[in-house]
Amino acid sequence: MTNRTTAITNIGTLVTNDPTLGEGPLGQIHNAALVIENDKIAWAGPTTKAPAADTTHDAAGRAVIPGFVDSHSHLVFAGDRTAEFNARMSGQSYSAGGIRTTVAATRAATDEALEANLKHHLAEALRQGTTTFETKSGYGLTVQDEERALRIAAAHTDEVTYLGAHIVSPDYADDPAAYVELVTGEMLDACAPHARWVDVFCEKGAFDGDQARAILTAGKAKGLLPRMHANQLSYGPGVQLAVELDAASADHCTHLTDADVDALANGNTVATLLPGAEFSTRAEWPNARRLLDAGATVALSTDCNPGSSFTSSVPFCIALAVRDMGMTPDEALWSATAGGAKALRRTDVGYLSPGARADLTFLNAPSHVHFAYRPGVPLVSEVWRRGVRNG
Ligand code: NIG
Ligand code: FE
Repeated sequence: MTNRTTAITNIGTLVTNDPTLGEGPLGQIHNAALVIENDKIAWAGPTTKAPAADTTHDAAGRAVIPGFVDSHSHLVFAGDRTAEFNARMSGQSYSAGGIRTTVAATRAATDEALEANLKHHLAEALRQGTTTFETKSGYGLTVQDEERALRIAAAHTDEVTYLGAHIVSPDYADDPAAYVELVTGEMLDACAPHARWVDVFCEKGAFDGDQARAILTAGKAKGLLPRMHANQLSYGPGVQLAVELDAASADHCTHLTDADVDALANGNTVATLLPGAEFSTRAEWPNARRLLDAGATVALSTDCNPGSSFTSSVPFCIALAVRDMGMTPDEALWSATAGGAKALRRTDVGYLSPGARADLTFLNAPSHVHFAYRPGVPLVSEVWRRGVRNG
């Protein structure tokens, strides 16, 4: 392959997430340039020092950040839960039971309809700056429906998660133990070839600590890596179990004891916060400040799903995290890029120093601070993936 280089010049503020290249933990460079060689970053520094390249693209003072790494979404689904949202906004509370509505609609949908819906939401996310995303099964809950959800997802991302243990399937309402047997047996066998990760919703009304341990342990034995929906709706064993099992991420982390925070601060598990869920369920915000001050690694993601968080917008989640969760704009940006990459145990995305994948998001703004300063404004003006401009 002939090497093709592109210089991107006149970047107002470049976030590299490499502190050796620029200011602060974000490694920010002002009046910056980047050189891309094929699909990777080859050079980053001040525009005045940029090496020559085959072509030049003028950023005209816009900010450039690493593409967002959305490490938590549920995009293989059908149907709509507007009525449930409406009821919540009239005072009803969220419960995991709503998942059953989406399970019924998803089972009834064709493969083509599911894939079209997935592509629709991916295009939406890309327009808002997301260049890497994880997505899960969990709205099928039969061997066949879980397997097809993962097969469809795997055609669009490497970060595919088996979530047969989203809730106990309605078909097994009288025998949850038999459902756990299915999830750790025949369903796992069918699903594991399509997935990288295994997940479980550890919560009252879904799966308890013992069941969650059995599900993640069985997944690990099949070569899947664990992650977990933990401590979303109530306090519980999820977070500490996730750390104990070396899960890459404990997701939600809304209700945490001091011992949970300590475990995250001292373990190898990222705390992934999903403020779209608290927004859409009118719930208490997760306390990002407490986690950061304790030394935990925090990621920020959308949790995009039709029930608890129907947003594909990482910029929206950043604005919520800054306004309501005690994060600074710099911390929130790091968590939505490098933090998401850590939650997926990826070292090729989430930063923009030489060797990284050339996944870039351009902003119609002088810096990323505008995500929270100008909430709700469509600031993403251009997105590049693997060195190619997408939009
Ligand atoms: O991450 N917590 C469990 N699962 C999803 C919600 C799914 C739904 O309500 O459909 C979540 O919030
Ligand atoms: Fe989720």
